[in-house]
Amino acid sequence: MQAEDSPFTPGAGVMPEVMAGREAIVTAMTAQTRRALKGRAARSLVLHGLRGTGKTSILLEAREQAEALGSAVSWIEAVPDKPFLQQLVAQLRKILISLDAVEKARRFVRAAGGALASLIRSVNVQFPGGSVGVEFEPVPGVADSGDLETDLPDLIEAVGLAAKHASTAVVLIVDELQFVGDTHLNALIVSMHRIAQRRLPVVLIGAGLPNVLRQLGESRSYSERLFMAESIGPLSREATDTVFRDTLALEDVTIEAGALDALWAETEGYPHFIQEWGNGCWAVATGSPIRKRDVDKAAPRVRSALDRGFFQMRLDRCTPQEMDYMRALASLGPGEHGPGAVAKAYGMSSSSQLNSTRQHLIEKGMIYAPSYGKLAFTVPRFEDFLGRYTG
Ligand SMILES: Nc1ncnc2c1ncn2[C@@H]1O[C@H](COP(=O)(O)OP(=O)(O)OP(=O)(O)O)[C@@H](O)[C@H]1O
Ligand SMILES: [Mg+2]
Repeated sequence: MQAEDSPFTPGAGVMPEVMAGREAIVTAMTAQTRRALKGRAARSLVLHGLRGTGKTSILLEAREQAEALGSAVSWIEAVPDKPFLQQLVAQLRKILISLDAVEKARRFVRAAGGALASLIRSVNVQFPGGSVGVEFEPVPGVADSGDLETDLPDLIEAVGLAAKHASTAVVLIVDELQFVGDTHLNALIVSMHRIAQRRLPVVLIGAGLPNVLRQLGESRSYSERLFMAESIGPLSREATDTVFRDTLALEDVTIEAGALDALWAETEGYPHFIQEWGNGCWAVATGSPIRKRDVDKAAPRVRSALDRGFFQMRLDRCTPQEMDYMRALASLGPGEHGPGAVAKAYGMSSSSQLNSTRQHLIEKGMIYAPSYGKLAFTVPRFEDFLGRYTG
């Protein structure tokens, strides 16, 4: 069938046509936004899961819902090489400018703008295109200590007060939370603690790789109570079938039970794999229904699409030594393994010589520690890929 008609959406952060199995988490997020809008205490949420499980898609849905409810939404995708604070300040400024239109909130918006201008100076936030916040006058004594853990909570509190007086809520969405960095993450958690204490309408919705939970816990002991943590894993068999069936139904195509069995075995419910396999089956099938033999025929095409579009792109920033380390981990097979076993597979007697390589791979989001003293890949089935990768 024609590629241009395929209803499947393989890719990163592409909202699927049919999003199955995430109703409960989307409802929970919307409930917190509603609570904030009503002036009730709302809890922040952190989604954590492997690559390609659909975290960004859930955040996109949360953004839509929050906007539809009338809250002010900011979207940040943290990246390793850009200071998070710069992105956050730019987003808060945008929110304040939008709230400034609300007459009864203006005094508080200006106060928050003052805090923003103070913080930009006090912690020296750099912007490539010059300074932002020039439209606001710094307020002495607020967010101007130079200590981020004092100044950011001051600023977020002032933004929360402005939102409250504008009868709205602020929803801060942060994707790729693992790249925020300890200093900024700490300041963000302290800020959300302040928000909880003052019961202001600000909700943080974050998503990141599985190691974010540990980062949050290590940052502040109270972060566990402050955030609801939700693990985002593969879809159930039922939800997986729903995605295939309902996505194909958009184009009046059906699928046979044998094909669904084969696709479950191939995808194990991982959303990115589901989209890529759906797309591949679409391309090789001559019409409705999709049969088991279409799945078999699509296999080489799907594997190479996954290698190019999902696995290989993760390797861009890895050094040859890091590649060797990952190959050693992959050689041990699926699941979690201790650094000692990896060192042995690498050909070293002690794991301590590989500490910095391991740390860099964690910082780059390639591997994580699922439990104390263990390591695993953040990309599902990465060990299979490395086994056949010759680049
Ligand atoms: N619940 C779902 N049902 C069907 N498809 C989904 C679902 N969630 C996500 N997808 C699809 O899966 C793919 C991966 O989704 P997404 O980019 O949201 O994952 P992610 O967890 O953010 O991945 P990464 O960690 O790489 O950023 C996309 O093609 C998306 O359209
Ligand atoms: Mg994502």
